[in-house]
Amino acid sequence: MLLTDDAPASARMIDPAFRRAILDGLSRSPKATPPTWFYDRRGSELFEQITDLPEYYPTRTETALLKAHGAEFAEAVGAGRAVVEFGAGSARKTPHLLRAIRPAAYVPIDISGDFLRASSADLASSFPDLPVLPVVGDFNQPLNLPAAIDGLPRLGFFPGSTIGNMEPDAAVDLLRAMRRLLGKDAMLLIGMDRIKDRDRMVAAYDDAQGVTAAFNLNLVERINRELEGDLPIDGFAHRAIWNDEKARIEMHLEAVRPLHFHVAGESFSMAAGETIHTESSHKYGERDERLLLRAGGWEPVRDWTDADAPFALVLAKAD
Ligand code: AVJ
Repeated sequence: MLLTDDAPASARMIDPAFRRAILDGLSRSPKATPPTWFYDRRGSELFEQITDLPEYYPTRTETALLKAHGAEFAEAVGAGRAVVEFGAGSARKTPHLLRAIRPAAYVPIDISGDFLRASSADLASSFPDLPVLPVVGDFNQPLNLPAAIDGLPRLGFFPGSTIGNMEPDAAVDLLRAMRRLLGKDAMLLIGMDRIKDRDRMVAAYDDAQGVTAAFNLNLVERINRELEGDLPIDGFAHRAIWNDEKARIEMHLEAVRPLHFHVAGESFSMAAGETIHTESSHKYGERDERLLLRAGGWEPVRDWTDADAPFALVLAKAD
Protein backbone atom coordinates (compact mmCIF):
# COMPACT_ATOMS: atom_id res chain seq x y z
CA MET A 1 0.00 0.00 0.00
CA LEU A 2 1.50 3.29 -1.13
CA LEU A 3 0.82 6.39 0.95
CA THR A 4 2.07 9.75 -0.38
CA ASP A 5 1.28 13.21 0.91
CA ASP A 6 3.39 15.46 -1.31
CA ALA A 7 2.51 17.09 -4.61
CA PRO A 8 5.11 16.86 -7.41
CA ALA A 9 7.11 20.09 -7.70
CA SER A 10 6.95 22.00 -10.95
CA ALA A 11 9.73 20.69 -13.20
CA ARG A 12 10.71 24.05 -14.69
CA MET A 13 11.39 25.97 -11.48
CA ILE A 14 14.99 26.90 -10.62
CA ASP A 15 15.91 25.00 -7.49
CA PRO A 16 17.59 27.62 -5.27
CA ALA A 17 19.57 24.97 -3.37
CA PHE A 18 20.97 23.58 -6.64
CA ARG A 19 21.84 27.11 -7.81
CA ARG A 20 23.60 27.90 -4.50
CA ALA A 21 25.53 24.61 -4.46
CA ILE A 22 26.80 25.00 -8.03
CA LEU A 23 27.69 28.69 -7.77
CA ASP A 24 29.54 28.04 -4.50
CA GLY A 25 31.28 24.98 -5.92
CA LEU A 26 32.48 26.76 -9.05
CA SER A 27 33.65 29.77 -7.04
CA ARG A 28 35.97 27.83 -4.76
CA SER A 29 39.50 26.79 -5.54
CA PRO A 30 39.90 23.98 -6.42
CA LYS A 31 36.39 23.78 -7.87
CA ALA A 32 34.24 21.11 -6.23
CA THR A 33 30.52 20.37 -6.37
CA PRO A 34 28.48 18.08 -4.08
CA PRO A 35 27.58 14.67 -5.58
CA THR A 36 23.93 14.99 -4.45
CA TRP A 37 23.20 16.94 -7.65
CA PHE A 38 24.03 14.05 -9.98
CA TYR A 39 20.65 12.55 -9.27
CA ASP A 40 18.08 14.23 -11.46
CA ARG A 41 15.87 11.81 -13.41
CA ARG A 42 18.55 11.25 -16.07
CA GLY A 43 21.33 10.93 -13.50
CA SER A 44 19.32 8.40 -11.50
CA GLU A 45 18.78 6.37 -14.70
CA LEU A 46 22.49 6.51 -15.52
CA PHE A 47 23.33 5.40 -12.00
CA GLU A 48 21.01 2.42 -12.46
CA GLN A 49 22.96 1.53 -15.63
CA ILE A 50 26.23 1.86 -13.68
CA THR A 51 25.01 -0.74 -11.19
CA ASP A 52 24.73 -3.28 -14.05
CA LEU A 53 28.22 -2.64 -15.49
CA PRO A 54 30.69 -5.53 -15.34
CA GLU A 55 33.27 -3.22 -13.70
CA TYR A 56 30.94 -1.86 -11.01
CA TYR A 57 31.17 -4.56 -8.34
CA PRO A 58 29.51 -2.83 -5.31
CA THR A 59 25.83 -3.28 -6.20
CA ARG A 60 26.22 -6.88 -7.37
CA THR A 61 28.24 -7.81 -4.29
CA GLU A 62 25.92 -6.12 -1.80
CA THR A 63 22.83 -7.64 -3.42
CA ALA A 64 24.40 -11.10 -3.17
CA LEU A 65 25.13 -10.51 0.52
CA LEU A 66 21.52 -9.42 1.13
CA LYS A 67 20.19 -12.50 -0.66
CA ALA A 68 22.52 -14.91 1.07
CA HIS A 69 22.12 -13.83 4.69
CA GLY A 70 18.40 -13.13 5.15
CA ALA A 71 17.97 -15.62 7.97
CA GLU A 72 20.85 -14.05 9.89
CA PHE A 73 19.45 -10.52 9.46
CA ALA A 74 16.07 -11.74 10.71
CA GLU A 75 17.70 -13.24 13.76
CA ALA A 76 19.82 -10.17 14.51
CA VAL A 77 17.16 -7.53 13.82
CA GLY A 78 13.82 -9.16 14.69
CA ALA A 79 10.41 -8.58 13.07
CA GLY A 80 8.15 -5.51 13.33
CA ARG A 81 10.61 -2.68 12.73
CA ALA A 82 10.04 0.31 10.48
CA VAL A 83 12.76 0.16 7.83
CA VAL A 84 13.98 3.65 6.90
CA GLU A 85 16.10 3.63 3.74
CA PHE A 86 18.38 6.59 3.09
CA GLY A 87 18.79 7.48 -0.61
CA ALA A 88 16.48 4.71 -1.75
CA GLY A 89 16.73 5.36 -5.52
CA SER A 90 15.27 2.40 -7.37
CA ALA A 91 15.38 0.36 -4.13
CA ARG A 92 16.22 -2.77 -6.07
CA LYS A 93 18.09 -4.38 -3.18
CA THR A 94 15.38 -3.64 -0.65
CA PRO A 95 12.99 -6.53 -1.42
CA HIS A 96 15.62 -9.03 -0.26
CA LEU A 97 15.84 -7.31 3.10
CA LEU A 98 12.09 -6.77 3.51
CA ARG A 99 11.33 -10.40 2.68
CA ALA A 100 13.85 -11.58 5.25
CA ILE A 101 12.97 -9.40 8.25
CA ARG A 102 9.17 -8.85 7.99
CA PRO A 103 9.07 -5.16 8.92
CA ALA A 104 5.96 -3.21 10.06
CA ALA A 105 6.51 -0.34 7.58
CA TYR A 106 8.94 0.85 4.94
CA VAL A 107 10.02 4.50 4.61
CA PRO A 108 12.20 5.18 1.56
CA ILE A 109 13.85 8.62 1.52
CA ASP A 110 15.21 10.04 -1.73
CA ILE A 111 15.97 13.41 -3.26
CA SER A 112 14.65 12.44 -6.72
CA GLY A 113 10.87 12.65 -6.27
CA ASP A 114 9.80 11.17 -9.62
CA PHE A 115 12.12 8.26 -9.23
CA LEU A 116 11.06 7.65 -5.64
CA ARG A 117 7.36 7.64 -6.47
CA ALA A 118 7.88 5.12 -9.28
CA SER A 119 10.03 2.75 -7.23
CA SER A 120 7.73 3.04 -4.18
CA ALA A 121 4.72 2.11 -6.29
CA ASP A 122 6.57 -0.97 -7.61
CA LEU A 123 7.60 -2.01 -4.17
CA ALA A 124 4.13 -1.49 -2.73
CA SER A 125 2.67 -3.80 -5.35
CA SER A 126 5.18 -6.54 -4.45
CA PHE A 127 4.39 -6.13 -0.73
CA PRO A 128 0.64 -5.44 -0.64
CA ASP A 129 0.37 -5.64 3.15
CA LEU A 130 3.34 -3.42 3.94
CA PRO A 131 2.72 0.31 4.49
CA VAL A 132 5.14 2.12 2.13
CA LEU A 133 5.63 5.76 3.14
CA PRO A 134 8.03 7.58 0.78
CA VAL A 135 9.66 10.83 1.91
CA VAL A 136 11.04 13.14 -0.79
CA GLY A 137 14.01 14.95 0.68
CA ASP A 138 17.74 15.32 1.18
CA PHE A 139 18.81 13.11 4.07
CA ASN A 140 21.76 15.45 4.63
CA GLN A 141 19.24 18.04 5.83
CA PRO A 142 16.97 17.75 8.88
CA LEU A 143 13.77 15.88 7.98
CA ASN A 144 10.76 14.33 9.70
CA LEU A 145 9.63 10.73 9.56
CA PRO A 146 5.94 10.02 8.86
CA ALA A 147 3.78 10.01 12.01
CA ALA A 148 2.48 6.58 10.98
CA ILE A 149 5.71 4.97 12.27
CA ASP A 150 5.68 6.73 15.66
CA GLY A 151 6.46 4.23 18.38
CA LEU A 152 7.89 1.54 16.08
CA PRO A 153 11.52 0.54 16.57
CA ARG A 154 13.52 1.49 13.49
CA LEU A 155 16.09 -0.14 11.28
CA GLY A 156 18.03 2.37 9.20
CA PHE A 157 19.16 0.93 5.86
CA PHE A 158 21.97 2.77 4.11
CA PRO A 159 23.26 0.52 1.34
CA GLY A 160 25.61 1.09 -1.57
CA SER A 161 28.49 2.63 0.36
CA THR A 162 26.83 6.01 -0.14
CA ILE A 163 28.42 7.00 3.19
CA GLY A 164 31.67 6.96 1.20
CA ASN A 165 30.60 10.11 -0.64
CA MET A 166 31.15 12.04 2.57
CA GLU A 167 34.32 13.42 4.09
CA PRO A 168 34.94 11.70 7.44
CA ASP A 169 33.64 14.65 9.49
CA ALA A 170 30.44 14.88 7.43
CA ALA A 171 30.03 11.08 7.59
CA VAL A 172 30.17 11.24 11.38
CA ASP A 173 27.65 14.11 11.42
CA LEU A 174 25.31 12.13 9.18
CA LEU A 175 25.58 8.97 11.30
CA ARG A 176 24.80 11.05 14.37
CA ALA A 177 21.81 12.66 12.64
CA MET A 178 20.56 9.18 11.71
CA ARG A 179 21.02 8.06 15.29
CA ARG A 180 18.88 11.01 16.46
CA LEU A 181 16.26 10.57 13.75
CA LEU A 182 15.89 6.81 14.30
CA GLY A 183 15.72 7.03 18.08
CA LYS A 184 16.00 4.60 20.95
CA ASP A 185 16.66 0.92 20.21
CA ALA A 186 17.35 1.70 16.56
CA MET A 187 19.62 -0.42 14.43
CA LEU A 188 21.47 0.45 11.26
CA LEU A 189 22.43 -1.81 8.36
CA ILE A 190 25.03 0.00 6.28
CA GLY A 191 27.04 -0.96 3.21
CA MET A 192 30.70 0.06 3.14
CA ASP A 193 33.06 -0.57 0.26
CA ARG A 194 36.44 -1.95 1.27
CA ILE A 195 39.86 -0.88 0.01
CA LYS A 196 40.95 -3.33 -2.66
CA ASP A 197 43.11 -3.63 -5.75
CA ARG A 198 43.60 -0.16 -7.17
CA ASP A 199 42.95 -1.01 -10.82
CA ARG A 200 39.71 -2.67 -9.87
CA MET A 201 38.56 0.38 -7.91
CA VAL A 202 39.49 2.76 -10.73
CA ALA A 203 37.80 0.61 -13.40
CA ALA A 204 34.57 0.69 -11.39
CA TYR A 205 34.51 4.48 -11.88
CA ASP A 206 35.87 4.58 -15.42
CA ASP A 207 34.07 1.81 -17.29
CA ALA A 208 34.78 0.75 -20.86
CA GLN A 209 31.28 1.67 -22.09
CA GLY A 210 31.56 5.23 -20.79
CA VAL A 211 28.41 5.11 -18.68
CA THR A 212 30.17 6.62 -15.66
CA ALA A 213 31.57 9.35 -17.93
CA ALA A 214 28.00 10.11 -19.08
CA PHE A 215 26.86 10.15 -15.44
CA ASN A 216 29.58 12.67 -14.55
CA LEU A 217 28.94 14.79 -17.66
CA ASN A 218 25.20 14.80 -16.98
CA LEU A 219 25.96 17.27 -14.21
CA VAL A 220 27.21 19.70 -16.87
CA GLU A 221 24.03 19.13 -18.89
CA ARG A 222 21.86 19.55 -15.82
CA ILE A 223 23.54 22.88 -15.03
CA ASN A 224 22.86 23.98 -18.62
CA ARG A 225 19.24 22.79 -18.48
CA GLU A 226 18.28 24.07 -15.08
CA LEU A 227 20.57 27.01 -14.28
CA GLU A 228 20.78 28.86 -17.58
CA GLY A 229 24.30 27.51 -18.11
CA ASP A 230 26.31 27.59 -21.32
CA LEU A 231 29.05 25.08 -20.44
CA PRO A 232 30.45 23.34 -23.54
CA ILE A 233 29.88 19.60 -23.09
CA ASP A 234 32.84 18.82 -25.36
CA GLY A 235 35.04 21.05 -23.19
CA PHE A 236 35.05 18.50 -20.34
CA ALA A 237 36.56 15.04 -19.93
CA HIS A 238 35.63 12.48 -17.28
CA ARG A 239 38.47 11.55 -14.90
CA ALA A 240 38.52 8.92 -12.14
CA ILE A 241 41.59 8.68 -9.89
CA TRP A 242 42.55 6.82 -6.70
CA ASN A 243 43.71 9.22 -3.99
CA ASP A 244 45.71 6.90 -1.76
CA GLU A 245 46.42 9.51 0.90
CA LYS A 246 42.68 9.92 1.51
CA ALA A 247 41.69 6.35 0.57
CA ARG A 248 39.16 7.42 -1.99
CA ILE A 249 38.24 7.37 -5.65
CA GLU A 250 37.71 10.89 -6.95
CA MET A 251 35.72 11.83 -10.01
CA HIS A 252 36.60 15.04 -11.78
CA LEU A 253 35.45 16.96 -14.84
CA GLU A 254 38.63 18.17 -16.50
CA ALA A 255 38.70 21.17 -18.84
CA VAL A 256 40.27 19.93 -22.09
CA ARG A 257 40.97 23.52 -23.24
CA PRO A 258 40.66 26.95 -21.62
CA LEU A 259 36.95 27.48 -20.89
CA HIS A 260 34.72 30.49 -20.25
CA PHE A 261 31.09 29.96 -19.35
CA HIS A 262 28.11 31.31 -17.42
CA VAL A 263 25.82 29.86 -14.79
CA ALA A 264 22.77 31.77 -13.56
CA GLY A 265 24.22 35.05 -14.80
CA GLU A 266 27.69 34.57 -13.25
CA SER A 267 30.89 34.14 -15.30
CA PHE A 268 33.50 31.42 -14.75
CA SER A 269 36.81 30.47 -16.36
CA MET A 270 38.88 27.32 -16.26
CA ALA A 271 42.45 26.76 -17.45
CA ALA A 272 43.15 23.71 -19.63
CA GLY A 273 43.72 20.77 -17.26
CA GLU A 274 41.87 22.40 -14.36
CA THR A 275 39.15 20.20 -12.87
CA ILE A 276 35.83 20.34 -11.08
CA HIS A 277 35.98 17.68 -8.36
CA THR A 278 32.49 16.18 -8.56
CA GLU A 279 32.62 13.17 -6.22
CA SER A 280 34.68 11.29 -3.68
CA SER A 281 34.01 7.64 -2.89
CA HIS A 282 35.88 6.72 0.26
CA LYS A 283 36.88 3.10 0.75
CA TYR A 284 37.40 1.52 4.16
CA GLY A 285 39.54 -0.98 5.94
CA GLU A 286 37.72 -3.31 8.29
CA ARG A 287 38.72 -1.38 11.40
CA ASP A 288 37.98 1.96 9.68
CA GLU A 289 34.34 0.85 9.31
CA ARG A 290 33.93 0.17 12.99
CA LEU A 291 35.75 3.32 14.05
CA LEU A 292 33.56 5.49 11.81
CA LEU A 293 30.37 3.89 13.11
CA ARG A 294 31.41 4.29 16.74
CA ALA A 295 32.34 7.93 16.13
CA GLY A 296 28.81 8.35 14.76
CA GLY A 297 27.05 6.90 17.80
CA TRP A 298 26.57 3.33 16.54
CA GLU A 299 28.01 0.17 18.06
CA PRO A 300 28.83 -2.45 15.40
CA VAL A 301 27.32 -5.83 16.24
CA ARG A 302 28.02 -7.96 13.19
CA ASP A 303 29.23 -7.78 9.62
CA TRP A 304 28.89 -9.76 6.42
CA THR A 305 31.51 -9.57 3.72
CA ASP A 306 32.34 -10.96 0.34
CA ALA A 307 35.83 -12.36 -0.12
CA ASP A 308 35.97 -11.97 -3.92
CA ALA A 309 35.01 -8.31 -4.15
CA PRO A 310 35.59 -6.99 -0.66
CA PHE A 311 32.49 -5.10 0.41
CA ALA A 312 30.94 -5.09 3.89
CA LEU A 313 27.40 -4.93 5.21
CA VAL A 314 27.67 -3.85 8.81
CA LEU A 315 24.89 -4.08 11.38
CA ALA A 316 25.14 -1.66 14.29
CA LYS A 317 22.92 -0.66 17.19
CA ALA A 318 22.33 2.77 18.68
CA ASP A 319 24.81 3.18 21.52
C1 AVJ B 1 25.90 5.76 -5.07
C2 AVJ B 1 27.60 7.00 -4.00
C3 AVJ B 1 27.57 4.65 -3.81
O1 AVJ B 1 30.25 6.21 -5.02
O2 AVJ B 1 30.10 4.23 -5.89
C4 AVJ B 1 29.00 5.33 -8.96
C5 AVJ B 1 28.03 6.65 -6.94
N1 AVJ B 1 29.61 7.36 -8.72
N2 AVJ B 1 29.84 5.62 -9.94
C6 AVJ B 1 29.61 5.32 -5.61
C7 AVJ B 1 28.86 6.45 -8.18
C8 AVJ B 1 30.20 6.85 -9.82
C9 AVJ B 1 28.16 5.56 -5.95
N3 AVJ B 1 27.32 5.77 -4.73
